[in-house]
Amino acid sequence: MKNFISIKDIEHPSELLSLAQKVKQNQFGFKQFGENKTLGLLFFNPSLRTRLSMQKAAMSLGMNVMVMNINSDGWQIELEDGTVMNQGSQEHIKEMARVVSQYCDFVGIRTFPALKSQEDDYNELILSKFLKYATVPVISLESATLHPLQSLADWLTIEEHKPKAKPKVVLTWAPHPKILPQAVANSFLEWMKFAEVDLSVTHPKGYELSEQFTKGVSIIHNQDEALENADFVYAKNWSCFQNYGTRMEGFDDWQITEEKMKLTNNGKFMHCLPIRRNVVASDSVLDSENSLIIQQANNRAFSAQAVLLKLLQNEI
Ligand code: CP
Repeated sequence: MKNFISIKDIEHPSELLSLAQKVKQNQFGFKQFGENKTLGLLFFNPSLRTRLSMQKAAMSLGMNVMVMNINSDGWQIELEDGTVMNQGSQEHIKEMARVVSQYCDFVGIRTFPALKSQEDDYNELILSKFLKYATVPVISLESATLHPLQSLADWLTIEEHKPKAKPKVVLTWAPHPKILPQAVANSFLEWMKFAEVDLSVTHPKGYELSEQFTKGVSIIHNQDEALENADFVYAKNWSCFQNYGTRMEGFDDWQITEEKMKLTNNGKFMHCLPIRRNVVASDSVLDSENSLIIQQANNRAFSAQAVLLKLLQNEI
């Protein structure tokens, strides 16, 4: 594996899942691989789980970790080539990526979309420039369009809690007061296609995701119908892909409630967190025995550890 940006970087996703299961059983059993190796984590956007789970994963592998919040602690980064840098930006990504690569064996980077230009975001404006100039493997800590570390953790969680060999998994759009990226939903669909699941997605008309992710996935616009007999309900908000980066008023009734969960097959509730309580899902759902949100967050450490271990072993 050269980089870990999307599932396409991995030849055999199910082997990575098996490795995550293996490291979860023997968290400190692979320390020899990370000795004298350094992981750099660069955040252009806020994080709780990704930041701490990556640090925990790296420390469990015996690695050293350096973390930097670029926007608050670093120089303002220039992305364009040929710019006369006599305005706000002070450091070009060309130098930044090459300099950081000298200090680290691997670099993780979080770059959310601006949600203004579909073209810029789906071409991964910042990440692609960083990749161009970095000289060490790069790990996505969530990019403009994908969140693969989250999806691997979600897959691990589903494997641990599935009530049958091929569970019904429903990704449902849920309300939110802000415009949010499509990254978690895109990645979830991308990874679930490799899992042994009956997969569908439900959302109001107008919230269609890019066809590159929904191709082959059943799309249902009636949420109640979609939730019937679901074994897993994965709730997530995303902004419009077609009318790019916008949100439509209404649809508050898409919140996941106890009543809706009664339509499922005693279904488990999932969300990547952070979650706005009583907007995306009700307290009663989030605090129920069927909620897996804390287990998902725990598995972030093991998905990160599996990815780091694979990079250290340079096996994929
Ligand atoms: N799920 C997730 O990526 O959480 P953070 O944004 O807190 O890292």
